[in-house]
Amino acid sequence: MDFRGAHIISVKQFEREDVEKVFEVADSMGPFAHRELITKVLEGAILGNMFFEPSTRTRVSFGCAFNLLGGHVRETTDIETSSIVKGESLYDTARVLSGYSDVIVMRHPQAGSVEEFSKASRVPVINGGDGANEHPSQALLDLYTIKKELDSKSLQIDGMSIAMVGDLKHGRTVHSLSQLLHLYKSIKFTLISPEELKMPRKIVDSLTKAGHTVTETDDMESGLNDNDTIYLTRIQEERFSTKLEASIYRGRFRLNQAIYTRNCQPNTVIMHPLPRDSREEANELDHDLNQHPNLAIFRQTDNGVLIRMALFALILNVAEKVNDNSMAVGWYTEKRFN
Ligand code: NCD
Repeated sequence: MDFRGAHIISVKQFEREDVEKVFEVADSMGPFAHRELITKVLEGAILGNMFFEPSTRTRVSFGCAFNLLGGHVRETTDIETSSIVKGESLYDTARVLSGYSDVIVMRHPQAGSVEEFSKASRVPVINGGDGANEHPSQALLDLYTIKKELDSKSLQIDGMSIAMVGDLKHGRTVHSLSQLLHLYKSIKFTLISPEELKMPRKIVDSLTKAGHTVTETDDMESGLNDNDTIYLTRIQEERFSTKLEASIYRGRFRLNQAIYTRNCQPNTVIMHPLPRDSREEANELDHDLNQHPNLAIFRQTDNGVLIRMALFALILNVAEKVNDNSMAVGWYTEKRFN
């Protein structure tokens, strides 16, 4: 695909070579993201960072990624203080705001809303999560992390095995990641969820049609056997009609040190898009695994900056220019990135 000026709405837009291109550019962003070098390649450019649903790491890492490329970030974070509460349509909001920025990242509670917004926008739009539908930049950073973790164990994405655990019905991260994995070969998926929160049939069917093996189960311990990666998710309580309904499922599937040791291969990578729900009644990923070398959750969040820098650099067509006039950082830094 031609990234220049493109909207990034769904992982279905990508071919394997596009994903590899994003990863290659992400690799080249290391010195800037890791505070060794400064670039001003996007000096003067403005990102409209519009989040109409709660977000910490997606919003902040998109913002930091843009800042690290030298650009400015303008945040709109509260649906209550925006004109949308006055009845303004997505069309009008998009027409107006795309006059104020060079690129827009948008998160919105309704599936399909970011696509609708992008059709009216005069600048490229990146989907930061649209309801339970998709979260393409998260899928890219997840796959980038999987690749790096597997590389370090001399394994490959083709032929790997992955267990996805939790709320697979409402989790947009697992929807996007599994559909991105379409592009690879012979993957063994184990989908572990309560019966009522299974992965949408359409996605499961498309995975089997693409030649992957899919096992669905509600038995966590047996499902954890024999996986290269385990991808845990939170019960998405904001997508249930009541908190009470969500609470039925909270805490049903948990990973802690004892369960890991009992059921997983010693090499198994542990992932979670975060936030993990650390309340006692949920606790799907226990803090007793915090020091585990295979816990990749904070490598995922660090990688998010690289991937988002790569997306901006490709969309705004500066990937080849980031090193021009770069300079060493002038302040004291500790080495804090792996
Ligand atoms: C996820 C999301 O918003 O879909 N968070 C994120 O962007 N890293 C997952 C979640 O909220 O559970």
